[in-house]
Amino acid sequence: MKHFFVSTPIYYVNARPHLGHAYSTIVADSIARFHKLAGDAVFFLTGTDEHGDKIVQAAQKAGKEVRQYVDDVSQAFQTLWPKLEIEYDAFIRTTMESHIRCVQYVLQKVYESGDIYFSEYEGLYCFGCERFYTEKELVHGKCPDHQVEPTPIKEKNYFFRMSRYLEPLRRHIEEHPECIQPDRYRNEVLGMLREDLGDLCISRPKARLTWGIELPFDPNFVTYVWFDALINYISALGYPHEERFRKFWPGVHHVVAKDILKPHAVFWPTMLMAAGLPLYKALRVHGYWTVGDAKMSKSLGNVVDPLDMAQRYGVGAFRYFLLSEMSFGQDASFTEEALVQRYNADLANDLGNLFSRTLAMTHKYCGGRVPECGELGDGDREVLAVGHTALAQFQTHFQQFQFSRALASLWELVRHLNKYIDHSAPWALFRGGETIRLSTVLYVVLEGMRKIALHLWPVMPSVAEAMLAQLGWKWTLETVDLEGETSSWFGLQPGTPVAERSSLFPRQEVLVAPPAPQPPGPALKEPVDIEDFARLDLRVGTVLEALPHPQADRLLIVRLDDGTPTPRQVVAGIASSWAPADLLGRQVVFVANLKPRKLRGQVSQGMILAVKTDAGLALLSPTAAVPPGSPVS
Ligand code: MSP
Repeated sequence: MKHFFVSTPIYYVNARPHLGHAYSTIVADSIARFHKLAGDAVFFLTGTDEHGDKIVQAAQKAGKEVRQYVDDVSQAFQTLWPKLEIEYDAFIRTTMESHIRCVQYVLQKVYESGDIYFSEYEGLYCFGCERFYTEKELVHGKCPDHQVEPTPIKEKNYFFRMSRYLEPLRRHIEEHPECIQPDRYRNEVLGMLREDLGDLCISRPKARLTWGIELPFDPNFVTYVWFDALINYISALGYPHEERFRKFWPGVHHVVAKDILKPHAVFWPTMLMAAGLPLYKALRVHGYWTVGDAKMSKSLGNVVDPLDMAQRYGVGAFRYFLLSEMSFGQDASFTEEALVQRYNADLANDLGNLFSRTLAMTHKYCGGRVPECGELGDGDREVLAVGHTALAQFQTHFQQFQFSRALASLWELVRHLNKYIDHSAPWALFRGGETIRLSTVLYVVLEGMRKIALHLWPVMPSVAEAMLAQLGWKWTLETVDLEGETSSWFGLQPGTPVAERSSLFPRQEVLVAPPAPQPPGPALKEPVDIEDFARLDLRVGTVLEALPHPQADRLLIVRLDDGTPTPRQVVAGIASSWAPADLLGRQVVFVANLKPRKLRGQVSQGMILAVKTDAGLALLSPTAAVPPGSPVS
């Protein structure tokens, strides 16, 4: 049995999980499931990175004690993943005792072999990155990531003799092209290795930072956060003592984005060499998600919440969108419109339609059971040939982390089956009494659907399970022969009852307006659901009386006919634009179910709606007179 180990980066706990974290973790989950389906023994690791300056600062900002803070944010990741149907085998936290012991073990080993030395260092330090920069790496004298000038720091520290391993690393990467993929990142790393990268400072004096792992050979220092974090990949496997390490380490695939290429492609393999361990098998590097054309960032207020998307469109559809939209290795742009478009085209139209009409026809023409397959004709054999190519390509691309290409191949089959139905016209065969032909066509389609659903399990697990259940196919991971699925076309047992209908992908409305130039004025507030809006009771009222407020120049006391026998009193901040006399008889829109409150001693039962303009406050009114109390919707 083959062993397959996939890891995600361990995420810093200074930010809540967002789209970027979700993508890497969904990629890892999908590839883990693919290998499970292929019959491999799989270990899928994710976790959180919890030491260092950044985390201490984030805890302070949140007004929490560091340990409490890291527990809370790590928990947020652990709570989210199952909701995105992510099933990991282990969740590592760098504050775990077992991890700390493993880091100290590796440090001691490398120290004893002479690859760690103590020296004074003077350099330019970026606190955001928690590392020293060389002049060359700066852009206009600033850290390229944080856009701040680094601080000159002179201090004694421990250094890892990384320079000793750079040439062997370069040779390894030259000789093993598969170890860093896609190629553009491999070339980028080879480029880095042509520069003089020197040694790596791997400690921080406790005088400056205590939230870290103490060096086993000097209690005055803690470990540099990257030296600590990278070791998670082996500490989680129980290195050095556990069997799990021996079994799974040789099959390791690390999934990361391009932002952390250098630590994974240079620091980590040289650390492994120094510790006498074999290098990882593959580093799979993906690009960055932007939101529209903008970088996703808290300060721009455009951070995409993955749970929100999954709840709105379904986890399966969300995962499908991410994997099909991003060409692995390149950047991609996330917009809700693109998601809805792809959802409607690929899922609602192509796949959803294939399922709903075929199941309906199976009920109408074949008593709701998988029919017998008769002798195959040319058109049927063409389906099998298209299926063979599509599935074989799906498997090859998926294995190579080319998810968008894999799904495009699978959709060749989805679309071909739809065309085959149109061409074969089962309704006409039924009318013409061609029962054997009819059964054959429906069998061929149902079997194709089974294969599609099975191959989609890594991408959209619960939806695929529902589709397979609709087809009445019983399966377990042990009974699946994934490779064999590309050739044989007779997995479904004739006579098996199938579901009567399938509505897995109801069409979605494009709720979001296409990105228009931002109107002047404040940025849009958080989106709300229609239910949120419906909670507001907006009505039209007619002004019966308006008086200046005795204690506030800004305010008017307005009495409205709201359709009830007693006038409603609303205190409105409109005195700067409206004289009381000008309001009489006017119809206004007001919030009727706002809890009453006193404004400068006067009870206000609602709020009149107005728009601030350069010329003052414009009131909202219906364009034609309506009965007082009419609801606005
Ligand atoms: N803690 C380190 C990793 C240590 S691994 C030994 C770290 N953490 S992080 O929280 O900043 O996560 C970075 C990773 O999150 C990226 O490499 C990528 O996997 C994911 N992403 C964060 N933002 C992203 C996008 N906008 N787009 C795609 N993925 C991104 O670095």
